[in-house]
Amino acid sequence: MNLLRVRTEAELRASGCIKWSEAPADVLPAWVAEMDFAVAEPITAALHEAVDGGCLGYGPADATTGVGEALANFASAQWDWAFDPRRVVLAGDVVDAISRVLATLAEEGPVIVPTPAYPPFLTVVGHAGRRLVTVPIDPDAVEATHDLVGIERELRAGARTIVLCNPHNPWGRSFPREELEALRDVAEAHGALVISDEIHAPLTLPGATHVPYAAVATPGARVVTVTSATKTWNMPGVKCAQIVCGSAEDAQRLRDYPMHPGQSSLGAVASRAAYELGGPWRAALLDQLDANRTLFTELVSGRLPRARMRPLEATYLAFLDARAYGLASPGEAALERGRVWVDHRPWGPGGEGHVRVNLATSPERIEQIVERLAAAWER
Ligand SMILES: Cc1ncc(COP(=O)(O)O)c(C=O)c1O
Repeated sequence: MNLLRVRTEAELRASGCIKWSEAPADVLPAWVAEMDFAVAEPITAALHEAVDGGCLGYGPADATTGVGEALANFASAQWDWAFDPRRVVLAGDVVDAISRVLATLAEEGPVIVPTPAYPPFLTVVGHAGRRLVTVPIDPDAVEATHDLVGIERELRAGARTIVLCNPHNPWGRSFPREELEALRDVAEAHGALVISDEIHAPLTLPGATHVPYAAVATPGARVVTVTSATKTWNMPGVKCAQIVCGSAEDAQRLRDYPMHPGQSSLGAVASRAAYELGGPWRAALLDQLDANRTLFTELVSGRLPRARMRPLEATYLAFLDARAYGLASPGEAALERGRVWVDHRPWGPGGEGHVRVNLATSPERIEQIVERLAAAWER
């Protein structure tokens, strides 16, 4: 039985979720990171049961939800990464979690964000009252690797925190252990806090391996991992991100933060169900995403010969370099001329002229996406 069901366009447009309901009727949406697949049955069953049981009050204390244990068991089985579930602090969503970590655990001093970056990284730093410093990678480099010389320069100049995205959105990259170790050596030499956003880790595609940053960090070094089941299991509307702290003290400081926790009781139910029962659905998803990236790569080389795409190792988000088309905004051109909505938010230095394409859909829709991009760009 195929556990993965692609929702019809009518269902998606009626769902009230952002990706399809914000798109005009003639526009094919391939932007925000929502998937066109129906949510896994064990998750919807757990949510129905929770709603029927009246689970609509404030979320209980972190430990009562069982989410920390569920994540710890998942991380140990998937990546051989062991941590004490009592160090897992729940938050609303991952961006909220980063904001809380910056405000609570980060020392005074600028915050380094390698770019191109997931756009909210570029704004959350300022909202948390810190100065942002970007360290771009060269968009013409063959491999999207961190600029460790640039990162070290900013640390010497006073930066105290690095926001890492592992695996990387929008590069679609899974960092090999040696690269994370090299980053660790630089960060730890300066005593910097590393906030590692690993929301895309369970979306590591066949052929690549996810290495949790915390698993390569030296014990006692300052590291916080932020993650959530909502990206992999396609349910960002139920809020329950997880912050895995490097120490019990950091966990306590986060819990003391004077703000009502943003996670929801339903988010906790859904997240626990995802980690504990969502394995078969995730396996079917990864098979489909593997086929989709192959199809997309082939279609791009045939129909968009001037676009450049690095190998997609993780996530379902392909980062297309469209600079060779010489368009002022390839994303706007795609929308206006091709009626396809690809993500063209500002990615920071090094991301100019790039768009991000959401591949979590049917092969037929992927073909349409490429045809529409070709109609917009190849003229
Ligand atoms: C790297 C990264 N972090 C965070 C998020 C958003 O997570 P949340 O909805 O939990 O804030 C996304 C969404 O695509 C993402 O790609």
